[in-house]
Amino acid sequence: MRRKLVAGNWKMHGSLATNAELLAGVKAGVAGLAAEVAVCVPYPYLAQAQQVLAGSPVAWGAQNVSEHAQGAYTGEVSAGMLKDFGCRYVIVGHSERRTYYGETDAIVAAKFEAAQKAGLIPILCVGETLEERERNVTAEVVTRQMQAILERCGVAALAEAVVAYEPVWAIGTGRTATPEQAQEVHAQIRALVAAADAGIASNLRILYGGSMKPANAKELMAQPDIDGGLIGGASLIAADFVAICAAA
Ligand code: 13P
Repeated sequence: MRRKLVAGNWKMHGSLATNAELLAGVKAGVAGLAAEVAVCVPYPYLAQAQQVLAGSPVAWGAQNVSEHAQGAYTGEVSAGMLKDFGCRYVIVGHSERRTYYGETDAIVAAKFEAAQKAGLIPILCVGETLEERERNVTAEVVTRQMQAILERCGVAALAEAVVAYEPVWAIGTGRTATPEQAQEVHAQIRALVAAADAGIASNLRILYGGSMKPANAKELMAQPDIDGGLIGGASLIAADFVAICAAA
């Protein structure tokens, strides 16, 4: 039985003042819920998240990580540094990183590996663009993105990782994948992993991300292969995020 995971991705939003309220609201609101809950905050606010959430059931993490362990990489942040601030999770390969910062499948795989080496759990994002969906190549795209990880890290690495299916056309657009559309891709991802290791596949948590809201969360997460959500916009409003966590 896979425990549901709801992870917030704040993206580049927040301030010390607004975070204090949001973190307190999430911490109080999710107490006692069945699902696991995490928030992925901007780097400068990791210490704040750690301070507020330490000792609570809410985990925290980052939204990106360097593929390098240390060195002359101005502006980068290593997995060890994230670990130093108590992170449990780190998002790797978010479509915004792939699109705006040129992260290739190979770079994403290197980041995934660096995260695990430091003891972090990567949340690997995969998903197709609208143009790719319309060309009917969703399965090929997601397979290629997953294969890059399997080739570099091996299937065993997925025992300590989370996958998030985020169709790019559903991110921040208000246009959610239908539960059936999402389930179809989630099942494909699980089957791909099962071909390498059935046990790891059946334990792998595959989150859905893309305009998940309190109104659609329950139906999405009721699908057999949808094990939670990666939440953007709605994770910035404590009441909405808590409602999604409760739906899980
Ligand atoms: P939205 O929930 O705002 O669509 O963002 C999804 C996302 O990109 C989470 O990583």
